Amino acid sequence: MKATYHSGVHKFALFVVAWAALLLCAGALVTSEDAALAVPDWPLSYGSLNPPMVGGIAFEHSHRLIATGLGILIIILAALLWAKDERRWVKYLGLAALGGVIFQGVLGGLTVLQLLHYWLPVMHACTAEIMFAILVSIAVLTSHWWMETLPQYEDTGWPSIHSIAILNACLIFLQVFVGAGFRHKYMSLKPHVFGAPLILAAVIWTTAVLRRRFPGVPAMKRVRVLLHSIVGIQILLGIAALWTRIQSASDPQPLPPVVITTVIHTVVGATLFATSIVTVLVCYRLVPRRREVLLATVKGEVAA
Ligand code: HEM
Ligand code: HEM
Repeated sequence: MKATYHSGVHKFALFVVAWAALLLCAGALVTSEDAALAVPDWPLSYGSLNPPMVGGIAFEHSHRLIATGLGILIIILAALLWAKDERRWVKYLGLAALGGVIFQGVLGGLTVLQLLHYWLPVMHACTAEIMFAILVSIAVLTSHWWMETLPQYEDTGWPSIHSIAILNACLIFLQVFVGAGFRHKYMSLKPHVFGAPLILAAVIWTTAVLRRRFPGVPAMKRVRVLLHSIVGIQILLGIAALWTRIQSASDPQPLPPVVITTVIHTVVGATLFATSIVTVLVCYRLVPRRREVLLATVKGEVAA
């Protein structure tokens, strides 16, 4: 369906993405500063909306406040999409973001009330990455680029570029999951460390196929460069996070080098996953799936 570009809606969606990135930093700080249980109750903090901001409480309570802010921003975003966007599925994506942020908030509360048991912190970490990817997707779907009439490209290879991009995103998500499993002490580090070369291989494969099948397509080039650079940075950050941990293994934690490297590694992990989802979106926007080409050919709309 043809949709109209609303600059205000797109800019607001970008602002929500920036706020969500801030929230990812604040959340990762709670974990790295070991402040998860600094506030024992929920939804209030020590029975108040304004507890004394000292020690771990400062990290945990500011995370809750920034999360509340995100909830309010997403209510506005969903209402804007519902009012302005003609595409029914984009309206529903706005509602999914709203449902997601409520779910994530409740999961955060349960994480505290259940004293970090039952894999709740791992689920909370993974849902945060999914939420971030949904918000980035909304920003892409409301952009001027997405609404433009764009040339369409034929994919002659196998497997299709759509399948390769989806596989790449799924593998990156699995890597995030095992990273969270280790970070929250539910798993060993081995699957995460051995997963890293696999992720690198998946990204190299995806970007090589994009370059070979769609040379000179600017949007494809942009996602290719982004995927490559972010995965490279992420692996270096992962090594740095591990190195700082090993170096200060016998020191009282949390120490700034460990906190800084682990927080940045977590947030760049979310950025890599969101970029892999944007890659999937770009492929669906520019390359009709074989089924669609076949249907159009049968109807006589496409000559070849
Ligand atoms: C609503 C949107 C929210 C988002 C996007 C979000 C995101 C995050 C992220 C990214 C982390 C870091 C995970 C990691 O480093 O592994 C985190 C940790 C945490 N969040 Fe949230 N959060 C949200 C809401 C909440 C709420 C409402 C609470 C209420 C208590 C909460 C409680 C926590 C706790 C306790 C941790 C630390 C878990 C641990 O160290 O084991 N979160 N959050
Ligand atoms: C290749 C891509 C990689 C991705 C996408 C990735 C992603 C992540 C993410 C998202 C987390 C935090 C999970 C959470 O939210 O709780 C994490 C944790 C971690 N990752 Fe990675 N990672 C990658 C590579 C690596 C590498 C190569 C290493 C080290 C050799 C590494 C070491 C670690 C460590 C040590 C943690 C736990 C941090 C802590 O101490 O709390 N990662 N990873």
